[in-house]
Amino acid sequence: MDTILETEGLNKEFVLGGFPRSIKIQALNNVNISVTSQKPVIISVVGESGSGKTTLAKVILRLLQPTSGRVIVSNQLVAGKGAKPDKTEFLRTVQPIFQNPFSAFNRYRTIDMYLYETATRVLKLDQAEAVRAIEEALAAVGLEYKDVRGKYPNQFSGGELQRASVARALIPHPNLIIADEPVSMIDASRRMIIINLFLALKQEYKTSFLYITHDLATAYYISDYIAVLNHGKLVEFGEGKRVLQSPQHEYTKLLLASIPSLNKKWTEDLDWNAPIGATAESLA
Ligand SMILES: Nc1ncnc2c1ncn2[C@@H]1O[C@H](COP(=O)(O)OP(=O)(O)O)[C@@H](O)[C@H]1O
Ligand SMILES: [Mg+2]
Repeated sequence: MDTILETEGLNKEFVLGGFPRSIKIQALNNVNISVTSQKPVIISVVGESGSGKTTLAKVILRLLQPTSGRVIVSNQLVAGKGAKPDKTEFLRTVQPIFQNPFSAFNRYRTIDMYLYETATRVLKLDQAEAVRAIEEALAAVGLEYKDVRGKYPNQFSGGELQRASVARALIPHPNLIIADEPVSMIDASRRMIIINLFLALKQEYKTSFLYITHDLATAYYISDYIAVLNHGKLVEFGEGKRVLQSPQHEYTKLLLASIPSLNKKWTEDLDWNAPIGATAESLA
C-alpha cells in the first residue's frame, strides 16, 4: 500500500495586523487526512469559500509553510518539520493545475514554451525528447502539438487552455495533481470535458488527483474519497459515495441541501478572490 496523501495535525494560522490589535485566522485547524491505496485515487476537498481549501492546496504544494503538522505525498515527507524534498524530485511528485487558466499563462509567451520549460527543467530532457514528451502529454488531453505550437494564450478557449495546463502538469508524470477549482472559470458546457479527463488520466497515467471544489455534483461524480472542510476543520472524510449518500455531519447535510437540482443551470460561482497563487511562470 502507498500513502497517496496524508496530512498529520495540519495547522495554518494567518496573523493579520500588528500587536496589540492583530487578528488570528485559523485557516487549517488540525486537519488529518489519510489515503492509502494501491491504485491511483481521486480525492475531493469540498467546502464553502473561506473554508481553507486553497490554503490546504498551497501547503501541499510547498507554496505556504504550515504552522504545525506535516504532509506526506506518495510516501515522501513534503511539508512540515524536517521536510526538505529535493526540488526536482518534488516536482515529479506533485504538480498543480491552475484555477484560472487565463492568468496562469503570461499572454506574451506561447503555450508550448511553458510545456518545453517543464520538460527540459524538471525532466532534464534534450530538445527532441522534450518535444516527444510534449506531444504525448498534449495527446493525453486531446490536443495536438501542431495546433498548439507557436500560439499565445489568447488564441485558445478557456477549456483548451485548461487542458494545456493539465498537459503541462502531466509532463513529469507526477503521482499527485492538485487541481484547485479547475473548472470554475470554464464555460459550464465544457466543464465535464475536464472532469472526465481527470477520470481517464487516473486510469491511463496512474495519477491521483486532489480535486478542490465547492461543487458537490462533480465531486460526487469523480471522487473515490471526499473531505469536507468547514472553517479550517475537517468535518467529514470518507469514501465519496458514503459521504454524500449518508452524510454524518450536519454541515455536509447542509452542503448537500444547497446543491442545485441537476436540470437547473449551474450557477457561475466565480471565486475571484482565491487564486491558487502559483502560476505556470513561478513553477517553470
Ligand atoms: N495569505 C493570507 N493571509 C491572510 N489570510 C488568509 C490568506 N490566505 C487565506 N486566508 C484566510 O484563510 C481562510 C481560508 O482561505 P482559503 O484557503 O482561501 O479558503 P477557500 O479556498 O476554501 O475559499 C479565509 O478566512 C481567508 O481569508
Ligand atoms: Mg480557494
